[in-house]
Amino acid sequence: MKKITIELKQKKYPVYLGYPVSRIGKLFDRHSCGKRILVITDENVSRLYSETICKSLAHCGKRVKLAVIKPGEQSKTIRTAYNLIKECSLSGMDRSDTIVALGGGVVCDLAGFVASIYLRGIGLVSIPTSLLAQVDASVGGKTAVNLPWGKNLIGSFYQPCFVVMDFSTLDTLPAREIAQGMAEVIKCAVIRSRKLFNLLCDVHPSEIEKHISTIVHECIMIKKSVVEADEQEKKGIREILNFGHTIGHAIEINSRNLNHGECVSLGMIAETFLSMTRGYCSETLFKNVKELVKKFSLPSKTNVNAKKVADALVYDKKTKMGRIRFVLPLRIGSVKTGVEISPEEVISTWEKWQ
Ligand SMILES: NC(=O)c1ccc[n+]([C@@H]2O[C@H](COP(=O)([O-])OP(=O)(O)OC[C@H]3O[C@@H](n4cnc5c(N)ncnc54)[C@H](O)[C@@H]3O)[C@@H](O)[C@H]2O)c1
Ligand SMILES: [Zn+2]
Repeated sequence: MKKITIELKQKKYPVYLGYPVSRIGKLFDRHSCGKRILVITDENVSRLYSETICKSLAHCGKRVKLAVIKPGEQSKTIRTAYNLIKECSLSGMDRSDTIVALGGGVVCDLAGFVASIYLRGIGLVSIPTSLLAQVDASVGGKTAVNLPWGKNLIGSFYQPCFVVMDFSTLDTLPAREIAQGMAEVIKCAVIRSRKLFNLLCDVHPSEIEKHISTIVHECIMIKKSVVEADEQEKKGIREILNFGHTIGHAIEINSRNLNHGECVSLGMIAETFLSMTRGYCSETLFKNVKELVKKFSLPSKTNVNAKKVADALVYDKKTKMGRIRFVLPLRIGSVKTGVEISPEEVISTWEKWQ
């Protein structure tokens, strides 16, 4: 087991890596988390892990309740949040009690949001079970629900008491979900870590499991350094995490069958190509990023229409006064932020990077 401490101005909390969920109760004894616990999870994860976790918590004297939501993005709504808040209230939970987020990024975002607003904030413990949630969603304190016309439009910054990752939970994760998590891993490597990039280049995809603890550790160290320097995304430092996401989100809005990680992969290739055409990075970097994406079974081509992508870019919530700002790679581990690129330039290069 390894421990990484996230040190923010208001709060300091540990992330336990490689800790078995069957012994989770012990960690609750170590941190004061109140008597009552509401475990929020989705149907898929509940089937696999809720019994073990609830047992361990009950064994340590906790009064545990389980709230199971439908899996997937459609549950990340204000309505589901309201139902969960009702559950907390009817169970008589008070500020000393704790919500456990057990699941992927959807559960982490939703349960985190509920914990942040119920009674103006109660305890939160995150147990991310998807690769994407382990390397990204569970650290950094962003919580959210969606509105019908846009993703993550309601939310808060709210830090957990602690985060626990059991890598064996990834054994049950479908291959496509592993690949989507790998997209965020590739992003971390490109923006901040040659060491991670080299590891990804060297490892065979079928052997990724052996290296998962090193990979997750490296990604969390990167996220830690970024969020510690810019907790609430006010200094422009946290912006680097958006590499691949500007175009990625625009593709996501226009695509029904691609998941977030797949769109981010396409976004990373397109944005590296833009960087190359601007003369900021080499052709080798573009080829390397594209090869790595393909290696981890992520898409490198799309039939999403360039004009539609350009239109979506203009409406992105991160677009400031009609200007689209990009994070472009210079070389592995280094990026240039705040690069303004017009929708026309994106359209004119669209076919060329594919
Ligand atoms: N807060 C942040 O900083 C942040 C960062 C990145 C992404 N996100 C959010 O995360 C969400 C995406 O996260 P996700 O990809 O984990 O989606 P998800 O939570 O929908 O999980 C993906 C699928 O995997 C299943 N699953 C999860 N763990 C499993 C396991 N161990 N075994 C078997 N099945 C399992 C889930 O039931 C679901 O069907 C998006 O809503 C996104 O906005 C938030
Ligand atoms: Zn992402």
